[in-house]
Amino acid sequence: MRNGISRVALIGTGFVGSSYAFAMLNQNISEELVLIDLNKGKSEGDAMDLNHGLAFAPAPTKIWYGDYQDCRDADIVVICAGANQKPGETRLDLVEKNAKIFKGIVDKVMENGFDGIFLVATNPVDILTYATWKYSGLPKERVIGSGTILDTARFRFLLGDYFQIDARNVHAYIIGEHGDTELPVWSKADIGGKPILELMKEKEEYKEEDLEELFVNVRDAAYQIIERKGATYYGIAMGLVRLTKAILRNENSILTVSAYLEGEYDSKDIYIGVPAIVNRNGIRQVVEIELNEKEKEQFHHSVQVLTSIKEKVF
Ligand SMILES: NC(=O)c1ccc[n+]([C@@H]2O[C@H](COP(=O)([O-])OP(=O)(O)OC[C@H]3O[C@@H](n4cnc5c(N)ncnc54)[C@H](O)[C@@H]3O)[C@@H](O)[C@H]2O)c1
Repeated sequence: MRNGISRVALIGTGFVGSSYAFAMLNQNISEELVLIDLNKGKSEGDAMDLNHGLAFAPAPTKIWYGDYQDCRDADIVVICAGANQKPGETRLDLVEKNAKIFKGIVDKVMENGFDGIFLVATNPVDILTYATWKYSGLPKERVIGSGTILDTARFRFLLGDYFQIDARNVHAYIIGEHGDTELPVWSKADIGGKPILELMKEKEEYKEEDLEELFVNVRDAAYQIIERKGATYYGIAMGLVRLTKAILRNENSILTVSAYLEGEYDSKDIYIGVPAIVNRNGIRQVVEIELNEKEKEQFHHSVQVLTSIKEKVF
């Protein structure tokens, strides 16, 4: 923050990045927003287009298309640059392509004197958040991945829909890899203080297999959307704005993000989706919830899958 003016630098203004920029403007989260992309025409065009909406925005935001020098005074650098999933491709398939792109990006950001917080959304997000932490040399709490923030939002939406309750009153987490080995924490899921596993006993129409199917729809949501329209972006963009707001407004919010584990959940040297308290300093603390045996096993499987990919890259 320079002279008390908040600045977010966004790198990568594709589907996800430009949706994030649009949501930032509409929710008036930072005073300045700078757009950077390899495709200069795209970020320049986006800056023009977004500026034309300012007359209708809740408050002024200074938006421009810029370069890496603009990262120096940024509070947050958000990275949405890189290749996205093609139909049938898993997030882990993207690793080599995007790790190379990240080395270039993170080096340039750091060379320009950045000393803020990185937010990473590019897939495979847990591996690329680890890469950003390694390449940047910043403390672990200042490198955050979007992790399972979107998966948790999808889970809350579908549970809200099933029980006909506002998703905002559903407390339930998806943790683990943002990808095929993620898991639902059923043992701690509740609605208005009532455990979901208890709620299921209240009506005959509630079936266990419905919950199983519901989770499959969470886990496979990206595939389903990509099949229909080629990419997913609105949900993650809103999740990233939520995270940005939690940081800039020092909210101490609990969000499922990709955080560095150093013994929490019996895991080490890995970035993975877990609930964490987020504030102006980044990740204040990883929240360790008590998992049941099945959930522990699933979580450790997820850790193992990510560790084996990480070891190939580093
Ligand atoms: N974390 C999540 O929950 C989540 C959800 C959806 C998508 N994603 C991921 O977000 C990423 C972006 O997806 P998208 O649909 O916006 O892709 P996209 O292809 O629309 O946009 C990527 C942008 O990155 C830019 N870019 C590429 N290399 C660059 C570099 N070296 N420097 C600067 N800019 C560069 C491209 O020019 C392009 O504008 C993908 O990896 C995708 O898988 C993550």
